[in-house]
Amino acid sequence: MKLLIFVVVITLSKANKTPRVSPGYDCDYCQPEQIHISFGSKTNDIVVTWTTFNDTQESRVQYGVGVMDQEAVGSSTVFTDGGRRKRNMWIHRVLLKDLNFNTKYVYHAGSVYGWSEQLSFKTPPQGEDWVVRAAVYGDMGSKNAHSLSYLQDEAERGHFDLILHVGDFAYDMDTDDALVGDEFMRQIQPLAAGLPYMTCPGNHESKYNFSNYRNRFSMPGDSESMFYSFDLGPVHFVSISTEFYYFLNYGFKMVANQFYWLEEDLRKANEPENRQDIL
Ligand SMILES: *[C@@H]1O[C@H](CO)[C@@H](O)[C@H](O)[C@H]1NC(C)=O
Ligand SMILES: *[C@@H]1O[C@H](CO)[C@@H](O)[C@H](O)[C@H]1NC(C)=O
Ligand SMILES: [Fe+2]
Repeated sequence: MKLLIFVVVITLSKANKTPRVSPGYDCDYCQPEQIHISFGSKTNDIVVTWTTFNDTQESRVQYGVGVMDQEAVGSSTVFTDGGRRKRNMWIHRVLLKDLNFNTKYVYHAGSVYGWSEQLSFKTPPQGEDWVVRAAVYGDMGSKNAHSLSYLQDEAERGHFDLILHVGDFAYDMDTDDALVGDEFMRQIQPLAAGLPYMTCPGNHESKYNFSNYRNRFSMPGDSESMFYSFDLGPVHFVSISTEFYYFLNYGFKMVANQFYWLEEDLRKANEPENRQDIL
């Protein structure tokens, strides 16, 4: 019990170190945009990610079932694009933990300077005895995105449990000092704010060591979204980067790290209690 009280005190004093900013402060570029969600380390953990162009000093998501009566606080990192203008953007990440399965949540994301519109997502069912419905595609740009309206339409009718965008985004996210990346992320928001938008890097993400990809997405694990796995229903999904083998100029270490990680991940997935179909 003593230990518990100690832990609580530490948490409180830590929280007090980050003062809430005063709403009176002029913050022209603090409106959240490019909102998207992904699975956390388990599928009833949802990570909400968004962008602002100025520092809001706080990252909050208010959410709940029917009404937004809960709040989760996260953090932001500043991402400087590698292009000539070295544009800065703040990428905010908030984890919504231990949600109810098979439940529709409403939420908005932002800070004291401004909130997104109210958005919603539905968590997947619990357990393994259900059929996973995924929309899987690669190569979707911000121009000529013919499939986007169909995807959005079906997503809004509840036909998918998740999206897998397996590489090649926006053509390219870094183009025009990453303005193309911003535009693309805005375009997919109607899809990606309502469904876990799970990703892999492709060759079009390679510029500046995949930094637009690594910064803009929030996949599970600690490889900056480059490789990861998660279990959804009866499926063990594994996402790896084949690009490491082509872009050895960014370091051979990534090839090795991923290889050892994959070996261990598949070993665990093949333990009798985890034996499932592998995609
Ligand atoms: C706020 O964002 C705008 C637009 O990106 C930028 O020009 C300005 O320098 C930023 N201000 C601060 C204090 O970061
Ligand atoms: C590229 O980024 C990875 C992290 O994904 C890092 O480990 C590696 O050192 C970077 N390579 C270069 C050349 O900066
Ligand atoms: Fe491609």
